[in-house]
Amino acid sequence: MSTLSSVYKKIIIRDIISETQDVKTFKLGYADGSPLEYEAGQFITFVFPKHELAEERRSYSFSTAPKIDDVPAITLKRVTNGEYSRWFIDHAKPGDALLTIGTSGYFTLPDDLGKYKRLILLAAGSGITPIFSLLKRALQEYPSLQLVLIYSNRTAADTIFYNELIGLQQEYSERLTIEFLFSTSPNLLRARLNKGLLENLLKKYSHDDHAQSLFYLCGPYDYMRMATIVLQTEGVPPENIRRENFAIVKPVQKRFPPDQEQHAITLYMEGNRYTFEVQFPETILQQAKKNNIPIPYSCESGQCGTCAATCTKGHVWMWNNEVLTDSEIQKGRVLTCSGYPVGGDVVLEI
Ligand SMILES: Cc1cc2nc3c(=O)[nH]c(=O)nc-3n(C[C@H](O)[C@H](O)[C@H](O)COP(=O)(O)OP(=O)(O)OC[C@H]3O[C@@H](n4cnc5c(N)ncnc54)[C@H](O)[C@@H]3O)c2cc1C
Ligand code: FES
Repeated sequence: MSTLSSVYKKIIIRDIISETQDVKTFKLGYADGSPLEYEAGQFITFVFPKHELAEERRSYSFSTAPKIDDVPAITLKRVTNGEYSRWFIDHAKPGDALLTIGTSGYFTLPDDLGKYKRLILLAAGSGITPIFSLLKRALQEYPSLQLVLIYSNRTAADTIFYNELIGLQQEYSERLTIEFLFSTSPNLLRARLNKGLLENLLKKYSHDDHAQSLFYLCGPYDYMRMATIVLQTEGVPPENIRRENFAIVKPVQKRFPPDQEQHAITLYMEGNRYTFEVQFPETILQQAKKNNIPIPYSCESGQCGTCAATCTKGHVWMWNNEVLTDSEIQKGRVLTCSGYPVGGDVVLEI
């Protein structure tokens, strides 16, 4: 593990806004005044030192969008018994400092968004955070795009950004439709998002023209699983479904690289050149950590994209990839946390 060092930047909580009973928005800025750069839909990863050689990491999506919101902000829900979310909600105050490895993530709008007719956003609870950021950007930058938000909560009072969303719906009434679903609703046909309800909403908004619809999903594991299965069963192409997973459950590794020999990695990162040998069972990230090479990471299981690099020579085989799309893989993007060099030496750039 790399020791706490200059690779981490200090960030300051500038302001805190209460959203619902257990949700707050935290406005952030770098302590040295440099701009906090990110894209709509991305997240920031904090590093929490435990003691001299141990640390923990947590990632939080931006609820703001660059150029639209003045100050970058994250929106966080208190998780019962959650170590860091409880600290944020119960104890954090303006002026508090945190350490970060920076921003990352692939839950962003594609460069070719203009070729789609509509964006269908599905969010549940705090899953609205990156979706709200994407929604604001899409409304502002893609005037010909139709937008649908299907947003599940317990009640209106628990609904994060409820008033802001109603405001957007009024402002963009020609282009934006919001379906608020409340699980406590007595009308069971419009309560919890289930298979039948999602099928109906899909017919209503995507018609049978699914190739022209791009879907973004963020919510609890079971919600995302159900929604993904329904969308795929109804004929939505898998590459039109983007997902952001908040609850990282490390999967058991069941696939192993076809080549388990030792190979050399050359890594170019922030003006530095690192060389090291990687041999199965160590992944590229695991070996880099042992060598104190500060590759950014968060989930360590192929689910967030923080550790991504571009492979400019050789091949990297990944045992799990839940974030990189086919087009990103074609550009050479690989995940170092689940990646092994295969078939020879490898050159990477971060
Ligand atoms: C890419 C990414 C983006 C994220 N963005 C956001 C965001 O915008 N807003 C936000 O509030 N959170 C977000 N999260 C979740 C966040 O990183 C933490 O997992 C969450 O705050 C819980 O951390 P903790 O230290 O409080 O809980 P821990 O101490 O890690 O966990 C305590 C208990 O809660 C369970 N748990 C952990 N995470 C969750 C969860 N998300 N939901 C339900 N139960 C959980 C654990 O299994 C454990 O039983 C994001 C996660 C990822 C990977
Ligand atoms: S650290 Fe999350 S994908 Fe590698």
